Amino acid sequence: MTTPSTTSRYPEVYAAWKADPEAFWREAARAVDWARQAERIFDPEAGVYGRWFVGGELNACHNAVDRHLPERAEQTAILYESPVTGTRRSLTYAELRDEVAALGAVLQDLGVGPGDRVVLYMPMVPEAIVAMLACARIGAVHSVVFGGFAARELAARIEDAAPKAVLAASCGIEPGRVVAYKPLLDEACALSAHKPEACLILQRPQSEAAMTAGRDRDWAEAVAAAKAEGRAAPCLPVAATDPLYILYTSGTTGKPKGVVRDTGGYLVALAWSMPNLYGVRPGETYWCASDVGWVVGHSYIVYGPLLHGCTTVLYEGKPVGTPDAGAFWRVIAETGTVALFTAPTALRAIKKEDPDGRLMQGHDLSRFRTLFLAGERADPDTVAWAETMTGVPVIDHWWQTETGWPIAANPVGLGALPVKRGSPTVPMPGYDVQVLDEGGRPLPPDTMGTIAIRLPLPPGCLPTLWRQDERCRESYLATFPGYYNTSDAGFLDRDGYVSVMGRTDDIINVAGHRLSTGGMEEVLASHPAVAECAVIGIRDALKGEAPCGFVVLKSGVDRSPAEIERELVALVREKIGPVAAFKLALTVGRLPKTRSGKILRGTMKKIADGETWTTPPTIDDPAILDEIGERLKARGIG
Ligand code: COA
Ligand code: AMP
Repeated sequence: MTTPSTTSRYPEVYAAWKADPEAFWREAARAVDWARQAERIFDPEAGVYGRWFVGGELNACHNAVDRHLPERAEQTAILYESPVTGTRRSLTYAELRDEVAALGAVLQDLGVGPGDRVVLYMPMVPEAIVAMLACARIGAVHSVVFGGFAARELAARIEDAAPKAVLAASCGIEPGRVVAYKPLLDEACALSAHKPEACLILQRPQSEAAMTAGRDRDWAEAVAAAKAEGRAAPCLPVAATDPLYILYTSGTTGKPKGVVRDTGGYLVALAWSMPNLYGVRPGETYWCASDVGWVVGHSYIVYGPLLHGCTTVLYEGKPVGTPDAGAFWRVIAETGTVALFTAPTALRAIKKEDPDGRLMQGHDLSRFRTLFLAGERADPDTVAWAETMTGVPVIDHWWQTETGWPIAANPVGLGALPVKRGSPTVPMPGYDVQVLDEGGRPLPPDTMGTIAIRLPLPPGCLPTLWRQDERCRESYLATFPGYYNTSDAGFLDRDGYVSVMGRTDDIINVAGHRLSTGGMEEVLASHPAVAECAVIGIRDALKGEAPCGFVVLKSGVDRSPAEIERELVALVREKIGPVAAFKLALTVGRLPKTRSGKILRGTMKKIADGETWTTPPTIDDPAILDEIGERLKARGIG
C-alpha cells in the first residue's frame, strides 16, 4: 500500500503494527493501569479466534475514574446538556467516583456480583454513565438497551442476557412527547421467560412511575441510603478477558446478536484511539452526540473520553428542533468542545434547516478542531458542506458494533492524511483490511467486493457472541476462512483508502441506526391478513435509508388495503419500536420473484431509488415490477 505523500506518522505506525503486532499492543497497553500484567499479549489458541491480554487483570472503572483522581479530582468528568428538560449539570471526577461507588454498593445489596448481568434501559442522563461504571466497578456485565426500542425488543435482551437486575429511568424525553419507560419495562419483564430479581428505578419528574412491590426499588433513595451509611464499593479487578458488557445489535433475523466486549483489549484499543485517532489531549472536552444505547456511545461518550481524562459531553437533545439547528454550535461553544463525533444524518438535518449556517453566528468555535462522522456512509456533499461551514477537517470513520472502535479512519493525532470525500480513509493498526470476491480471493484495487478483516481481529473487537460461540463463527468467520466478514461492501483504492458503500446482508441503516429488515418482515408476517412480505431499505434524503414494506394479503381478505397498511405501520412501531422509523407499507398483488422463488429485493430497491433497472431474465412474472413502480410513484417515490 502506498498512502499519498504526507507528513503523517500513519504509514510508519501502521507498518510497525504489521511488523510486530504483539509488540505494538504491548506498548499500547502501557496507557492502561493493570492490577496484574498479561502473561500473553495474544493467545491464538484461546476463544473463537484467539484472546488478547490473557492472564492480565484490571478494572475498567478504576481506569476511567479513580486513577485520575490525584490529578483531576476537580476537573469536570461529565457535562450534561439537556435542552429537552432545560437542564445543565456537571460532575467532577471526584463526584463521579462517589456516585459510582455508592451505586456499586447498591448493586451489591441487590445481589449483583462479578459476572452477573445488569440490563440498563436509560435515557441520556448522567445516571446512565454512572450505572455503566458502577457495573464495571464491581465486575458485573452491563447490557444497555436503547430507549427507542419497544417492550418486545427489551424482553428479547432480558431473556438472552438473564440479568440479576434491571436499572431503568421512569421515562425518556423525545421532542414533543414523554416516553414512559416503566410500562415498557413491566411489559418486557412479563414477556421474558427470565425474570430479573430487582429493578432500580430512577424517577424523573416528567413522568413518575408506579412501582411494583417486592421487585422495584427507588434509585435515589437507595443511593442516598448507601451514602448516608458511608458505603462505597471498591474497584474489583477482573480478568482482561472477562466481559465488560454485552451490546445487542441487529442480526439478519429478529433475534438480536449479543456482542460481547472484553475488558482488557477494549480499554487498550480505546486508549490508543483517543490521542492517535481523535487527536485529543487529557483535560480537553470531547463530545460524541450519539446515545449510550449504541456502541458509539459506549466507546466515545463513556469509556474512551473518561479513560483519557477528558471531559465528556452528554447531550439529551437532537441536532434540530431542540430548540433549533444551532444547538450543536451552541453546545460546542459553551462546553469548549475540541472534537465532535456525530452521524451524517445529524448534519443533513442541520443543513436542511440552516443551509447557510446562520445559526452558527455568535458562537465561539475557536477551540473546535475536528468533526468526526460515523454510523453510515458520509456522502461527499454533506462532508463538503460541513467543511465549508465549520472550517475544520471533517473526518469520516467506519466501524461496527462488533469492532467497538474504528476499522478505518483518518488518524488526526498521527497527522491527518489527505481527505478523499466519500472514503473513511485507511485501516487502523490492528486491521488488515481486504476486499474479497465471492470465492474469498482478494480483489485488485478499485474493485467492489466484500470487505473482510484478516484474523485475528485487534483488541477491542468482539471475542464472541454472548453464550453463542457457534453463532459467532457462523455469522462472521465461516464465509471466508481466516477472515472476519464485515458484511459491508466496498473497495480499496490504489492509495489503500477504503470506501464502504453498503451492506451485503439485509441490515439497513436508518438515521445512523442499524436495523434488520428480516426482523421487520417477521413482524409484518405476524399480521393475520398478510400472506407474504418483503422489507427493503430505500433511499431517504435525510436518514440515508428508510424501510419500506411490500405485503401480499391472504386470499379472501376483503378489508381495505389502506387500513391494513396503517395497522402494519403501527404493528412495527409497537413490536420493534419508534426507532425502526417504519412508515411505509404497500400492499401489492404479488412479490417479484425469480423462478426459483427468490424475492428480487435488489430490483425493487432500484425502482424505489429511481435508478435504471432491467427486468431480470429469471423473473417469473415481469408485470409485477410495473405494479410496484406505480404503487411507489403514487406515494411520490422512485
Ligand atoms: N427513545 C424513544 N424514542 C426514540 C428515541 C429514544 N431514545 N430515539 C428516537 N426515538 C424515536 C423518535 O422520536 C422518532 O419517533 P417518531 O416516529 O414518533 O417521530 C423515531 O424514534 C425515529 O427516530 P429518528 O430516526 O432518530 O428520527 P427523528 O425524526 O426523531 O430525528 C434526526 C431525525 C436526524 C434528528 C435524528 O435521527 C438524529 O439525530 N440522528 C443522528 C443519529 C445518531 O446520532 N446516531 C448514532 C449513530 S453514530
Ligand atoms: P453499527 O453496528 O450500528 O455501528 O452499524 C455498523 C454499520 O454501519 C456498518 O456495518 C456499516 O454498514 C455502517 N457504517 C458505519 N460507519 C460507516 C461509515 N463511516 N461509512 C459507511 N458505512 C458505515
